[in-house]
Amino acid sequence: MCGIIAYLGQKNGVPIVLKGLKRLEYRGYDSAGIALKQENNLKTIKAKGKIEQLKALINGENSNIVIGHTRWATHGEPNHINAHPHTSEGIAIVHNGIIENHASLRKELEHKYNYKFQSQTDSEVIAHLIDFFYDGDFEDAFRKMLTKIDGAFGIVALHKNHNQMICARKGSPLVLGIGENETFVASDPSPFLDHTKNVVYLDEKQMVIINPDSYQIKDFNGYNLEKEVEKISYGIESIQKQGYKHFMLKEINEQNETIKNCFRGKIKDIEMVSIKKENFQRIVLVACGTSYYAALVGKYIIEKTTHLPVLVEHASEFRYRQPMLYPTDLVVAISQSGETADTLEAIRLAKKIGCSTAGMVNVTGSSIAKECGQGIYLHAGPEIGVASTKAFTSQIIALNMLNLYINKDPYYKMKVIEEIKKLPDQIKSLLENQNIKPIAEKYRNAKYFLFMARDINYPVAMEGALKLKEISYIPAEGYPAGEMKHGPIALIDSEVPSVFIVTKDSIFPKVISNMEEVKSRKGKIICICDEINEEIQRLADDIIVVPQVKWEFTPIVNVIPMQLIAYHIADMNGKNVDQPKNLAKSCTVE
Ligand code: M6R
Repeated sequence: MCGIIAYLGQKNGVPIVLKGLKRLEYRGYDSAGIALKQENNLKTIKAKGKIEQLKALINGENSNIVIGHTRWATHGEPNHINAHPHTSEGIAIVHNGIIENHASLRKELEHKYNYKFQSQTDSEVIAHLIDFFYDGDFEDAFRKMLTKIDGAFGIVALHKNHNQMICARKGSPLVLGIGENETFVASDPSPFLDHTKNVVYLDEKQMVIINPDSYQIKDFNGYNLEKEVEKISYGIESIQKQGYKHFMLKEINEQNETIKNCFRGKIKDIEMVSIKKENFQRIVLVACGTSYYAALVGKYIIEKTTHLPVLVEHASEFRYRQPMLYPTDLVVAISQSGETADTLEAIRLAKKIGCSTAGMVNVTGSSIAKECGQGIYLHAGPEIGVASTKAFTSQIIALNMLNLYINKDPYYKMKVIEEIKKLPDQIKSLLENQNIKPIAEKYRNAKYFLFMARDINYPVAMEGALKLKEISYIPAEGYPAGEMKHGPIALIDSEVPSVFIVTKDSIFPKVISNMEEVKSRKGKIICICDEINEEIQRLADDIIVVPQVKWEFTPIVNVIPMQLIAYHIADMNGKNVDQPKNLAKSCTVE
């Protein structure tokens, strides 16, 4: 939610920040703005809409101190006034997160001290508070401001009288890019990756004072901290489309490689060494959205093959009820971004209760990865399309890795490892030989879609429905095939396509019966199967054949056609595939 990029160096930072904002657009794209320092003045330029709209307002501006922001609205509708940066006398700030006590602060600043607010945002109080405390010492005023605000924030601030940028992080990510005579601050490294791969991830309650020739990290009390400079392992190509029309399509097509990267090196050492597996009695998986569906797949795998109870929780629900947690539970957070606020808070709650925690996270150095302190990195590379694809399939690999770690049967482990090694080639052949576009074309105008499956593929049906609705805006529902007769069957008619996953396993005949029920009500059937037989041929209007893989990996091969159906329908219907309306890639607000 919201992206920040700031530059302090010797070059003109305006084009650098604008290019960076474009790369951060996946985090929010309803309005954007920059502030730049020119002599002892600050200039702010803002626009409603995408970065292109902002670019159109830039008229040769030049500055070597620039901050920029792309917004996903929380407080105040997306418009020019509510766009960041927000200003007070000689101060400009950009903010990602939510200032929870903004209303009382605003009231006090307005009524007691006569501050005039321009926007409806929670963020504007930050700028006025810095001004309120400012008596010539920018750093001191900034720190005093921090003592007043509650909530989550990544903040970067400028003051017209200081050749400095001051930043702080609590709950929303900020990373420093350390270049040659230049320093960047951003929500993630993508906007400065073509300038430097040297980074310092800020931890909770850390701030940085950036000067033209140095930077100093401090805690919120002002004590200096030394932090290691890390090197980003991926290159600029991983954040470019590389000839694909959309990031989502690129990311779908990367899955043979990303899966390999996820299990490589982890077969022997799955990075969970500090958890004593003998000690935990139950696994609790907490996640949101697509990651939640991956967690459900994990439950099927672990309970069936290792017989350890697994509880799967929507992180947003888990936090606000009274979860029955015990110190013998291993609580695992699953998250692509590693920044989802609800998942992060769920882990904090689990830690308070004394549970062991671990993360399955894609983004290195992210808040959830840091909070968990141990776990499995997905190594799927940056996922930029707002619809999660490759992270889901890597999460299923990671859950299998966790299962191998706790499973005691050497034969089972050997078999899984044998099969996992075959997967990348099987996925490659699926991606190369699929012909899903004509099917998407046929159903692109459907008013409603049903996705149905049983057992381990039931969560995949829900994921297929989520993919379609979030990028094409066609209502869709994922349902356990056996539950259809208890309600959704009322929706079936000759206009409604049902996507069935029919894997050749013990419940195959049951799914076939459910297809019969749809057929006899004239519903259309798209069948994703790993073997065609006469019944499938008779019942299905369209058939997509996927490779035969071990039961644990069937969700991976079955989800790929669903990702492609959603992608092609959205693209054909002219939707913005990578940046669907109302969504943002990482939900750092609750
Ligand atoms: O980064 P996370 O995995 O924690 O994100 C969770 C959800 O916000 C995310 O999966 C969301 O549902 C995607 N838009 C799904 O495509």
